[in-house]
Amino acid sequence: MEKVKLALSSNSYDIFIGSGLLSDSELISRHIEKKSVFIISNKSVANHYLDRLISSLSGFDFGVYLIPEGEQFKNLRTVEEIISVMIKKGANRTSTILALGGGVVGDTAGFVAAIFQRGIPFLQIPTTLLAQVDSSVGGKTAVNHEDGKNMIGAFYQPKTVIVDTDTLNTLPKREVSTGLAEIIKHGILADRSYFDWIEKNISKLLRLDSETLEYVVAGSCRIKAEIVSEDELETGKRALLNLGHTFGHAIETATGYSEWLHGEAVGAGLVMAADLSFRLGMCALDDAKRIKALVTDAGLPFAPPASMEEETFLRLMSRDKKVDETGLRFVLVNGGIGAAALVERVPIEKLRATLRARENLCSGV
Ligand SMILES: NC(=O)c1ccc[n+]([C@@H]2O[C@H](COP(=O)([O-])OP(=O)(O)OC[C@H]3O[C@@H](n4cnc5c(N)ncnc54)[C@H](O)[C@@H]3O)[C@@H](O)[C@H]2O)c1
Ligand SMILES: [Zn+2]
Repeated sequence: MEKVKLALSSNSYDIFIGSGLLSDSELISRHIEKKSVFIISNKSVANHYLDRLISSLSGFDFGVYLIPEGEQFKNLRTVEEIISVMIKKGANRTSTILALGGGVVGDTAGFVAAIFQRGIPFLQIPTTLLAQVDSSVGGKTAVNHEDGKNMIGAFYQPKTVIVDTDTLNTLPKREVSTGLAEIIKHGILADRSYFDWIEKNISKLLRLDSETLEYVVAGSCRIKAEIVSEDELETGKRALLNLGHTFGHAIETATGYSEWLHGEAVGAGLVMAADLSFRLGMCALDDAKRIKALVTDAGLPFAPPASMEEETFLRLMSRDKKVDETGLRFVLVNGGIGAAALVERVPIEKLRATLRARENLCSGV
């Protein structure tokens, strides 16, 4: 088992990563203060893992709410419904919420924990690769509004994060690749040798080799934890975690959040960010090529959808939160793989060249 500490000025916590942790009754119980537990999950995850979790909760009173499948249920209506069920089942200020599932479950359950009776403790038990390396770590909780993703939320840290890497065995391959997008992002923005390691181990990762997964989840959690501990409320450095996301969000919006999964949009977004970094002299061509190759090897698209025009990108990106009155801002590769920086006032002609490059991204033409 690996343990990663997320150090904060108050409410620091540990992230535990290993095989079989869902059955580690002692580990789970030790992070629950009182007898009352409320589990929030969804049907597909519950089918596989709810019994296992419940078996580890002997001696606790518990209630369960299963959120219907899909991002479209990450909204205030679901939050209200969960709270109604919690009240009916006698949940109170001493109850602890357990979030068992992917990012949709984790973000919604975390937000309920943040607001139920002004805040009750919660544990993240992420079951997708994306949730294990990204959404369960760092305390961002939110639900969507009709007019925007993650519009309603709070910074609210869990008591702990417990990652059972065995849960990935049932995850669809496409979801594995979307998690890899965030992992590759971590290597690019923070640690060149970690990127090298991912390159060497990409086929083992895709095969879900247990030890390799444990290493990569811990590696990514360590990178994210370090950044979050320096900037919990995203007033500065934490924004670097948005590498590839300005392009990615535009792709998700243009395709209606249905055709492309988040990590797929981020995959193409990383390649576009690498391409733009190269054009601005911030990244050697060889590094940009390696980024494109690794994104491809991870089973992710490296170019935006053919139907998406340059002007559509510009329109959507100027609404993205990384673009403000100072002009177009991007998180870009800063000097090569292993570092990133927020760059203001990116020259529009360079950006247009990246938007037009498509199949030729990161090829130097
Ligand atoms: N809070 C943050 O910092 C943060 C960061 C990144 C993303 N997010 C949010 O995370 C969400 C996406 O999360 P996600 O990619 O985990 O998607 P998800 O929660 O929708 O899960 C993806 C799919 O996998 C299924 N699933 C989950 N675990 C499984 C398992 N072990 N076996 C089989 N199937 C399983 C789910 O039912 C779902 O169909 C988005 O809403 C995004 O906004 C939040
Ligand atoms: Zn992301």
